[in-house]
Amino acid sequence: MHTAKELATFCKKKGFIYPSSEIYGGVAGLYDYGHLGTRLKHNFENIWREYFLKLNDNFHEIDTANIMHKNVFAASGHLENFVDPIVHCSKCDFSERADHLLEKATGERFEGLSEDELTDAIQKHNLKCPNCQSEFKPVAVMNMMFAMSMGTSGNQTAYLRPETAQSPYVNFKLQFELLRKKLPLGLGLIGRAYRNEISPRNLTLRLREFQQAELQIFFNPNKISEHEEFQSISDYALRTMLEDDRHANMVVERTPEMLVQKGWPKFILFYLVQVQKFYLEVMKIPKDKFRLYEVVGKEKAHYNKLQFDIEIELADHGFTEIAGFHYRTDHDLHGHQDVSKEKMEILDELTGERFIPHVLELSFGVDRNVYLLLDQAYENNKEREYVVLHLPNKLTPYFCAVFPLVKNKDELTLLSRKLYKELQQKFAVLYDQSGSVGRRYARADEQGVRYCITVDFDSLEDDAVTIRDRETTKQERIQIFDLTKKLQQLK
Ligand code: GAP
Repeated sequence: MHTAKELATFCKKKGFIYPSSEIYGGVAGLYDYGHLGTRLKHNFENIWREYFLKLNDNFHEIDTANIMHKNVFAASGHLENFVDPIVHCSKCDFSERADHLLEKATGERFEGLSEDELTDAIQKHNLKCPNCQSEFKPVAVMNMMFAMSMGTSGNQTAYLRPETAQSPYVNFKLQFELLRKKLPLGLGLIGRAYRNEISPRNLTLRLREFQQAELQIFFNPNKISEHEEFQSISDYALRTMLEDDRHANMVVERTPEMLVQKGWPKFILFYLVQVQKFYLEVMKIPKDKFRLYEVVGKEKAHYNKLQFDIEIELADHGFTEIAGFHYRTDHDLHGHQDVSKEKMEILDELTGERFIPHVLELSFGVDRNVYLLLDQAYENNKEREYVVLHLPNKLTPYFCAVFPLVKNKDELTLLSRKLYKELQQKFAVLYDQSGSVGRRYARADEQGVRYCITVDFDSLEDDAVTIRDRETTKQERIQIFDLTKKLQQLK
């Protein structure tokens, strides 16, 4: 098993992810993606689109401004509630998120406690400043949004959005009308979010600027107990950790049918299954590393009636929230109706009902998902004596690579370049001619390339090439005219 530090070093060395503005010493919580990281991130985003936006014909993607009107956040409750508890040392300049400080010291969760409760807990556990051993000041709260002054006089306050979600909410009315007034309506958005995190850390797990892929599903609350495709998922084994399972620290497999008996709505369960399937089947996460953690009481975000953290076990960090599953009711649309005076209530033309739609939100941090992919894929391979990245075929930056056996041999270069150009039409393919073939295999394995195709002198005679699999290192001779078909089958 690797450490988080090893992974971070590897990410920089290979051009996946590294600190932003590094020539000036970097800025905490800001990271850049290099040539391989960018491909991996885009592949994740594309696969997310492919999977979630196809769940319903009426799911669509929008792209919106990152800077938003101040009133958006008055309406959503972020101005008042989007705060984190902070604790300052009474002597030096050390500060930390109070619940994180406690979690680190005790291994328990402290999310959702009030400032007074956190201050008491710090005293009870006798926690002192790790820098200078002094007492802490009482816990205070800090709003995590970045405010900005706009306009030439600078007297207009706007905010960098702390979640992409508010954009679909303020777009809802118009999009609903443009899209023939049909529910459910899904508005998906992949874009930036900004939070002034108190303690940004752990590579891309906690950033101050990050990317989210969120799907807001607007639906009729009177139809929450139905979903037309429920039968197809009714006996699927959901890996749940409900409130009652916490004391035993146990994941319990429950089918949607069982949960319906406990009063859970079918509409919500249908999508909970889709999220789990995405991680197990598309992202190829081993089942035992995945759990749906029910968040309850004061731990829930201020806008949620029901909340699951999608948690996956990471090296060094244990089970970590990678995505969120949120039933937000009409909290946001109602807020926007009150503040903007724009009517969010709609008429269901089929039933004649009037209501403000409810929202189910599937929320994914793209950077945490990229981290997850790298963490799961990373293997310090003892036999090969270098790192092998076992990334899934559909996500890896390069699916295949073409190597001429030796460089500067006209015929080999010509054939290799021709093959490379042809494969480029269908696959993400890399061309590499420098160093020995062994060295090139190693480099390719480290970048997660699944298949390496070597063109050698025999290729000029028999129109065949050697194809090597990253997973097994087995090599196979294959006719060039069969190559595209074969790779398509393997993808
Ligand atoms: N719209 C709902 C929302 O933003 P959230 O639980 O605050 O909910 C959703 O965030 C997801 O965004 C998280 O599960 C995580 O993947 C990602 N995320 C949140 N804060 C982050 C941060 N500071 N750095 C990186 N990713 C973050």
